[in-house]
Amino acid sequence: MISQAELTDIRNNTPGCKNNIHLNNAGAGLMPLPVLKTIKDHLDLEAEIGGYEAAKQEAHRTRAVYEAASRLLNCKAENIAFTAHATDSYAKALSSIPFERGDIILTTHEDYTSNQIAFLSLKKRFGIEIVRIPGTQKGGVDLDEAWQLIRRLRPALVAVTHMPTNSGLIQPVEEIGKYCHDQHILYLVDACQTVGQLNLDVQQIGCHFLSTTCRKFLRGPRGMGLLYVADSILEGGYEPLFIDMNGARWEEKDIYIPSETAQRFEDWEFPYALILGTGAAIDYALKLGMDRIEESVRFLADYMRESLGSTDKIRLLDRGVDQGGIITVSLKNREPEELRAMLHEHHINTSVSSREAGVIDFDEKGVNSALRISPHYYNTVEEIDFFTSIIKKL
Ligand SMILES: Cc1ncc(COP(=O)(O)O)c(C=O)c1O
Repeated sequence: MISQAELTDIRNNTPGCKNNIHLNNAGAGLMPLPVLKTIKDHLDLEAEIGGYEAAKQEAHRTRAVYEAASRLLNCKAENIAFTAHATDSYAKALSSIPFERGDIILTTHEDYTSNQIAFLSLKKRFGIEIVRIPGTQKGGVDLDEAWQLIRRLRPALVAVTHMPTNSGLIQPVEEIGKYCHDQHILYLVDACQTVGQLNLDVQQIGCHFLSTTCRKFLRGPRGMGLLYVADSILEGGYEPLFIDMNGARWEEKDIYIPSETAQRFEDWEFPYALILGTGAAIDYALKLGMDRIEESVRFLADYMRESLGSTDKIRLLDRGVDQGGIITVSLKNREPEELRAMLHEHHINTSVSSREAGVIDFDEKGVNSALRISPHYYNTVEEIDFFTSIIKKL
């Protein structure tokens, strides 16, 4: 567990903790000072000596960020691509799969909105089919159904969001990974809400692609994403549809050669300051230890759920046997947006998830929107007590 002394230090290093209770890490986490300083320093350097020159001078530091990301996810630096954001990573991964009419994408009820829209767009243009794995009574993927569907349908892709944007549900991505491995099925995991929150290991998950953003629980800057690409994908010749001159070399008039590494999935233009800032965020997380971060987030989230409890006034909406750092609630006679605005007046940051964030999930829960509360390890029990006392007074 993170000690009290460490927590004080962490909070002193986090300007956003000073005047606000930030419970919106599922939106964007608070950057710690080392991340801010790294970004600002590089921008200063670009202004001083020129953007291309600064990139060249700091190339060794940029390379080190790939090493750091590989330690975070337990892979090689060659498996890491940096992108603009999670959806960008996801689209690039999807675009590398040569879908044919009638191919099946097997996904979940709770998969992220933009992923579901991308599947529907693939359906519209290429005639692929979408099948969603039924959930259990308690919520989350039914593993027996998943196994049966994978074996029977032999989908072209299994796509699972580790933790949906609109609830604390943690999907059993490792078990699903074993089924995909067993049946030689491509497996794409959206870990946008879990990288930086849970201790992830792509070897354990057994995925071919894992996408994420850097601004949420990882505490990096906005405008950065990451894509893990497995060796088998690189060796199998998968490449994004719109590969550019960074991802490939134009060899002859009609020939280009894709990069051998996950660089294949990157764009030529790169926000170097943000990459370095992301590196600082990863270093910060690794120094604290992902296992301890996970322990703290789970503790605070459980504490929050317990304190709020489900009463006739407050309804906890999260489902699933395993739940993490996103807590969603609805309140009788109060619109979530009204609640969010009122909490904001008390300097408490939360957000609202609306039905479009999870059409199937929200309809099953019978609500149109929910207040989304997402603590991180830098939050304190006192902050959560203050938050719940306000909610309970309503
Ligand atoms: C589960 C999940 N996947 C993907 C995304 C999209 O991330 P980005 O906005 O970086 O594209 C989000 C954003 O909230 C998310 O919660």
